[in-house]
Amino acid sequence: MKQLTSINELNTEIHQYKHLGNTIGYVPTMGYLHEGHLNLIEAARKENDIVILSIFVNPLQFGPNEDFDSYPRDIKRDLELAAKCGVDLVFSPDVAEMYPSEPSYTVIVKNRVNVLCGRSRVGHFDGVATVLTKLFNIVQPNRAYFGMKDAQQVAVVEGLLKEFHFPIELRAIETIREQDGLAKSSRNVKLSEQERKEAPAIYRSLTIAETAIKNGEKSKDIIIEQMMKSIEQNTSGTIDYIEVLAYPELQDIEVIKGKVIIAVAVKFTNARLIDNITLDV
Ligand code: PAF
Repeated sequence: MKQLTSINELNTEIHQYKHLGNTIGYVPTMGYLHEGHLNLIEAARKENDIVILSIFVNPLQFGPNEDFDSYPRDIKRDLELAAKCGVDLVFSPDVAEMYPSEPSYTVIVKNRVNVLCGRSRVGHFDGVATVLTKLFNIVQPNRAYFGMKDAQQVAVVEGLLKEFHFPIELRAIETIREQDGLAKSSRNVKLSEQERKEAPAIYRSLTIAETAIKNGEKSKDIIIEQMMKSIEQNTSGTIDYIEVLAYPELQDIEVIKGKVIIAVAVKFTNARLIDNITLDV
């Protein structure tokens, strides 16, 4: 496995891959790899000749009160994991390589951002879209892999690829879960023993909603009410939001119809957990 930190060197390598007719699968990350990332790498490995993983903690997507400096980093461990999972090349530039000066051009995302987690993270998706625009141009992948755990990010990337005509196939990979249904997340370890027992109720509430919709329930309000009741009765967490929206447009709907996302965020003492399902009704 190769590791490169320079855009110029990566350009040369990409040129070679393309010249030889290889397809490139790309997994963008901010490092500190967990099972969710490994799942994306595995999917990319199955579908492409070359797998490129980037590790870059992007300052542009952190708000002033967010944890850019303390964001966990462990490049040595990440490289070991990436090599084990069959990654061909890791691109791990530093901030000066990606942003040699204050950026003069940034991408502003106008839709799909003022809902779900984006509501409380103003500017976050502008930072994500800006860095991905740069990374997509540098890596020139055939396919890019994102986890559905962050469904709002997937929706934003879908719009970005479409509006900027990137010839890249978006591959949205299903959330991986613990046996009891809890979505895997590095935050789960921050739950107390009792909270960990309660947390699967979040996914259970989504399955309750799914069953009700499959049985013909069309009212968004009734679905939200049922989920709220189920989470409140079974956890000590505080509901941050439960939303039912058109997907991937993330627009408000009254009647559940077409492709929809049901998304939920619950705050526990030291961790805020998110989960979602998408349905085609
Ligand atoms: O999901 C992430 O880790 C980041 O938002 C991404 C897509 C790597 C962009 O910095």
